[in-house]
Amino acid sequence: MWYQRTVFYEIYVPSFCDSNGDGIGDLQGIISKIPYLSELGIKGIWLTPFYPSPRVDNGYDISNYYDVDKTFGTMEDFKHLLERAHEYGIRVIIDVVINHTSNQHPWFLESKKSKENPYRNYYIWEEKPKNNWESFFAGSAWEYEKETNEYYYHAFSKEQVCLNYSNPRVKEEIFQVLKFWLDLGVDGFRFDVINFLKMQRDKWPDNPYENGKQLHKYDKNQPGILKFIEELKSFVSNWNDKFLLGEIGEDYLEDMLPYVGKEKLDACFNFNIGSIENFDLKKIYEELVKCEKHQIVPTLFFSTHDMKRHFSRLCKEQVNHAKLLAFMMLTLKGVPFLYQGEEIPTKDFRPKSIEEIQDIQGRLWYNNAIKQGFNKEEAFALAYQNTRDFSRSLLEWKDEDLNEDFYQFYQTMIAFRNENEILQTGNYDFIALEDFVLSYRRTSGNQSITFYLNFGETEVLLPKGYQKVLGTQEESEVLKPMNAVALCLGKDESLKL
Ligand code: GLC
Ligand code: CA
Repeated sequence: MWYQRTVFYEIYVPSFCDSNGDGIGDLQGIISKIPYLSELGIKGIWLTPFYPSPRVDNGYDISNYYDVDKTFGTMEDFKHLLERAHEYGIRVIIDVVINHTSNQHPWFLESKKSKENPYRNYYIWEEKPKNNWESFFAGSAWEYEKETNEYYYHAFSKEQVCLNYSNPRVKEEIFQVLKFWLDLGVDGFRFDVINFLKMQRDKWPDNPYENGKQLHKYDKNQPGILKFIEELKSFVSNWNDKFLLGEIGEDYLEDMLPYVGKEKLDACFNFNIGSIENFDLKKIYEELVKCEKHQIVPTLFFSTHDMKRHFSRLCKEQVNHAKLLAFMMLTLKGVPFLYQGEEIPTKDFRPKSIEEIQDIQGRLWYNNAIKQGFNKEEAFALAYQNTRDFSRSLLEWKDEDLNEDFYQFYQTMIAFRNENEILQTGNYDFIALEDFVLSYRRTSGNQSITFYLNFGETEVLLPKGYQKVLGTQEESEVLKPMNAVALCLGKDESLKL
């Protein structure tokens, strides 16, 4: 399917490109950047939520699934965006948040009115908090609502109320939402926290703790969820060629595997590779081998709007290191997902005070810490550790950046991938790690390319008889530290460079 041949680019709508100077990214801003994305070689974009929303969690709290938030533009703008992107050969997948809605969604406003309200059962109401479950942000997952003197369940902030998937009407409503956007012509979906839809509700067991941290054992990956995914897949199959990508909120490949496959999602975010805290080549290598073993085509990324930018986090703002990672992401087997601005490269934003922390997760950590008696400095330190503002600052877009070697390197690598089928679908002959040198050979038909990436501090000998196809250094018998090359045995005239 087309997605396997696509280099994607995540657009975090509020901070990508601001067209009207209000400091917030918008759809017109995105439209204005489509030629830029096309020049970069991008063939697919993932748009984070742009629907009407109080934006407590920057749009991951939807109050209307069928429209565009005024801050971002109008429905006409969205249609225009889709049309322009398609003209440029760029496919568009949209983020849908179906685990929860905003507490301002009309369904919830109805639901909380009375126990008899027809929408009551769209959400999860209980007389008392059922257990010790904590929200994934901070604090209890149960919130008291005085109108009916009951508690409702929310896995994230209290303004993001979890939908009740034990109620068949909820599924029907959500499928109508998908139908609406599919009919408009979107090319697929990114499903937000899709493994959270079902929880253990028979006995509502307490979640266990480990090292003072709650383990989310019973509030995700529960019975019924895979059946739901299959129904989702079968429903979307009524449209041709739609890409279903899941955010499975897990760090281990084993926990993601059940969700991906022919009758299920096409792919998921491989946090087992992408969300490493520190640069760890051995870990990356082992996870790639694991994906191979399970015949999973991984998504390839090291940054998203939920994590620190890898340019800062993994590369310590060293351009050579970042180039090596780009070389890797764009030559491995998998589906690359760049995060907006990484091609410039963009550094992390580092908030200096609580006022500069906008992310709900950061703010909740701060407030909770204050409640628990920490002083302001300590509370800020905790918020700083947990906030997701680092990767969310508004991009600057300076023309000079495009003349820089770094941007042009991204462009060259993406073009190399786009032009040569072997890089998109070629299999591995081998993948190996020796000291700090990662190598792999990809083959397709009688074509083959061998890649060497040297993350170490000493130069290594390259095998004899090969010719450089492309790389970060001149043709040489040795591979220098922090350099990478793609080699072919003799000259391959059919490769497009
Ligand atoms: C996903 C999103 C994140 C959001 C959360 C709740 O993890 O990527 O930004 O806060 O879901 O919707
Ligand atoms: Ca704007």
